[in-house]
Amino acid sequence: MKKIIVANWKMNLSFQKTKQLAERYRKIKIPKSVEIAVAPSFPFLFEVNRIVKHEGFKLASQNIAAQAEGAYTGEVSGSMLHEIGCQYVIVGHSERRLYVSESDEMINKKVNQCYHNNLIPILCVGESLQENKDGQRDSVLVKQIQRALDKVDGLPENQLVVAYEPVWAIGSGQYVEPEQMQEVQRVIKRAVVSLYSEKFYDEKVRLLYGGSVNSVNAKAFINQPGVDGLLVATASLEAEMFEDIINQAS
Ligand code: PGA
Repeated sequence: MKKIIVANWKMNLSFQKTKQLAERYRKIKIPKSVEIAVAPSFPFLFEVNRIVKHEGFKLASQNIAAQAEGAYTGEVSGSMLHEIGCQYVIVGHSERRLYVSESDEMINKKVNQCYHNNLIPILCVGESLQENKDGQRDSVLVKQIQRALDKVDGLPENQLVVAYEPVWAIGSGQYVEPEQMQEVQRVIKRAVVSLYSEKFYDEKVRLLYGGSVNSVNAKAFINQPGVDGLLVATASLEAEMFEDIINQAS
């Protein structure tokens, strides 16, 4: 499987700015060994896809409904996302866990919806600063993974992306020591293997690091054994910086 770098634009850009950034992205030469996915806001998914799809960029959504269809005002279903060209969905981002109280049970339903609709989830997991200080990183990761991936319909046949994003590293300029990713990988792998199999992990799962990734630290993360890519937000809003990050991954 190729390495993957995901650009999460969050709720940052106007329509005009979104189009400008997508136009800048389309000039980036994507190395053969890397996959790039772009996650703009819901209303702009279609337009961004139109601008970048022929250059090999993949489209990702920042969220998905936990239900398949029906009277769920304000929600966007997996089939809608698939229909407009999404291939990936960011699920369980810590900002959603925190600000809209997304629970592990909801995240589990969302992961299921991804597989019902041919979408690959990018499952975000990570501990808070307090949990980190209390030495609870590993137990938090295991709990989040086991609850999110419990009895998922599309597994182990399909691909899965897991993004380790410690809450304290997101948008803060602070980041994990890249070498620690090897330990994190062992914990995450063990949790996934306890539900499925080692073969599944080795063949179908990619592990990303996210949290204050920039053009200076990207290489150290991407070169760690067991790390298959990056989830980048702030640095993805500047095309040049994002291009630098991509080039370091090839
Ligand atoms: P950051 O955010 O790159 O701005 O730290 C990462 C994320 O939230 O996915």
